[in-house]
Amino acid sequence: MKITLTLAKADVGSIGGHIKPGSRLMGAVSDFIAREGKHLIKDSYISHTGDDIAVLLSHVRGVSAPEIHKLVWDAFWSAAEDARKQGLYGAGQDLLKSAFSGNIRGLGPGICEMQFEERPNESFLMFAADKTDPGAYNLPVYLALVDPMYNSGLILSPIMFKGFRFTIMDVSHTDGDRVIELDSPEQIYDIAALLRDNQRFVIESVHSRTTGEPCVAVSTTRLHNIAGKYTGKDDPVMMVRVQGPFPATGEVLQPFKIGHFVAGFMRGSHVGPLMPVKSNSTISWFDGPPIVSCTAFCVHDGKLSEPADVFDHPFWDYVRDKVSRKAIDIREQGFSGCAMLGYDELEYGGIVEKMADLDKKFRVRPVKGKPRGRRAK
Ligand code: 13P
Ligand code: 13P
Ligand code: MG
Ligand code: MG
Repeated sequence: MKITLTLAKADVGSIGGHIKPGSRLMGAVSDFIAREGKHLIKDSYISHTGDDIAVLLSHVRGVSAPEIHKLVWDAFWSAAEDARKQGLYGAGQDLLKSAFSGNIRGLGPGICEMQFEERPNESFLMFAADKTDPGAYNLPVYLALVDPMYNSGLILSPIMFKGFRFTIMDVSHTDGDRVIELDSPEQIYDIAALLRDNQRFVIESVHSRTTGEPCVAVSTTRLHNIAGKYTGKDDPVMMVRVQGPFPATGEVLQPFKIGHFVAGFMRGSHVGPLMPVKSNSTISWFDGPPIVSCTAFCVHDGKLSEPADVFDHPFWDYVRDKVSRKAIDIREQGFSGCAMLGYDELEYGGIVEKMADLDKKFRVRPVKGKPRGRRAK
């Protein structure tokens, strides 16, 4: 049976700052999907990661189905209304447009989708991250799919020997989606040359080169450039199919033990380590640290199994301690150097005005004995 998984996320309001949506708001989204989606979808799962609500739907209507996108949009929209009534912070934050126009892309919420022939034991992972952007997945996906130091299946499982095809987007290009396809293992240096720049070149999807089947889908957008002003980070979701021609679950999880440094954290303007957290975790210190949750499912005839919270395990407590130490280390240098994002990535217009103002006050000091305006040699 050909099934579609649609995973969308939005921040539609949060308690006490950018912390968590709260049970009433979660209830509003679940109730709406259950009521309005009855005849459209096969199953659904609603969760939150920090202040972002993630809606996972299974259905048979294919990728970019307008009725599915509208269902998600309307669910977020009605929850935003509820958030306004509750007086929550940032009500409707990620709903950048007021009208739905056939596809949720470009309207604010993040979305990734996959359509595939369901395997008899179809297993997949749903990732949701807060206080960061889609480039946060570049390194873990690269390591899990191309590096035998992380994915032992690349040398043990013949069905993976051919490698994977990466579709990478240049998110700084605002005039349409500018993408490139590159194959591992032959082009891993080219893939790495792009993926080192998390703010510009971002994985959108990955396919198996053995079966042609989709393996990874990320909610990659050029949104923060389109919006042109601070609207929060594009806190990203991702789905990864696992086992068989794809990496094993544990191979996909392995790179998340690094707690690599990503963009985001306080005011979307800093650098912090990505902490793997339990599902439905909140945000705390310095509006962070950046967090990622992962829930494993099987799906059969479009019905989702019960969720398995894969970062809810003693191993990840140890990792969380390590990541906390990394977060404290980088925060110790405050605004200085690599602890904050570069000028182009700061998500606040205020600093642009401040720099323009300061720029006017600079003067070029004359050098004694040299005519003005000539460079001293
Ligand atoms: P969100 O993008 O998660 O809403 O966070 C915004 C922010 O400013 C955190 O400090
Ligand atoms: P305000 O400047 O509106 O308080 O927003 C800041 C913010 O949300 C960063 O966390
Ligand atoms: Mg928020
Ligand atoms: Mg968020």
